Amino acid sequence: MPKNMRLTKGELQKMRASCQLAASTLEMIAEHIQPGVTTDRIDQLVDTFIRDHGAYPSPLNYRGFPKSVCTSINEVVCHGIPEARTLKDGDIVNVDVTCTLPAENGFFGDTSVTFYVGEPSPSAIHVTEVARKALEIGIAAVRPGARVGDIGHAIQTFVESKGCSVVRDFCGHGIGRQFHTEPSVTHYGRPGTGPLIKRGMTFTIEPMVNLGSWETVVLDDDWTAVTKDGSLSAQFEHTLLATRSGVEVLTRRGSILPHSEDRPYAELGPLSAPAAFSRSSGR
Ligand code: MF3
Ligand code: CO
Ligand code: CO
Repeated sequence: MPKNMRLTKGELQKMRASCQLAASTLEMIAEHIQPGVTTDRIDQLVDTFIRDHGAYPSPLNYRGFPKSVCTSINEVVCHGIPEARTLKDGDIVNVDVTCTLPAENGFFGDTSVTFYVGEPSPSAIHVTEVARKALEIGIAAVRPGARVGDIGHAIQTFVESKGCSVVRDFCGHGIGRQFHTEPSVTHYGRPGTGPLIKRGMTFTIEPMVNLGSWETVVLDDDWTAVTKDGSLSAQFEHTLLATRSGVEVLTRRGSILPHSEDRPYAELGPLSAPAAFSRSSGR
């Protein structure tokens, strides 16, 4: 039996609720992003918020991960472990939230954004805005009948046209009753190749974009992935449902995120922009 069984209508409602809690967690954390805040503090706030809503912070003890959220600063590509280090003016930090609702035997919602700490450099703006748009472009390629390679190709073509690179070592994934299941959603590829997107499938798109080369190295803590060349890296992630007409962004937020989407250079596409600000809902 395949592990990524499509969800029934009732299960889908529960999946929506979990994804909306993950989205709200990012809205809650956004106002705390400022110089001097430790990533441990972010971890503590996320852990409390998720548990207060009857859910479990999925990263905690997942394959030995020691904290409740991933915080990835500057050259950290993904899976950064919260610690006593403080955020500094000019840093970029990705906060990747996953929750399980209900806490026992629940559904997984997975979403991340890259925040600006204070005032960013031009190169930090570039890599972050390319990653933000790369997710939008990937989402726009989702429809029943498309293949994962169509999504990856759209993302890769855009990112490379902007002089950046797409990480190969980490992918999006099927999600639902499990955190990570098939298919593997690569953010690079060739059109018409890879697994078929079918109506009812739930999965993530989460492109990691590097300013330099795409290669990554995992540190001695066995989790923290950094760019091999030390260049900046940014990431955005949504959990999605393939629908009859296209896609539903399950982790879509209801308002503009401070310290990320509120910047004049942050262009929000129609598919993940807050409803009040978008012309087409994408549904
Ligand atoms: N949230 C990450 C993802 O997008 C996975 C984190 S696994 C952890 O798939 F153990 F590091 F939390
Ligand atoms: Co994910
Ligand atoms: Co994630």
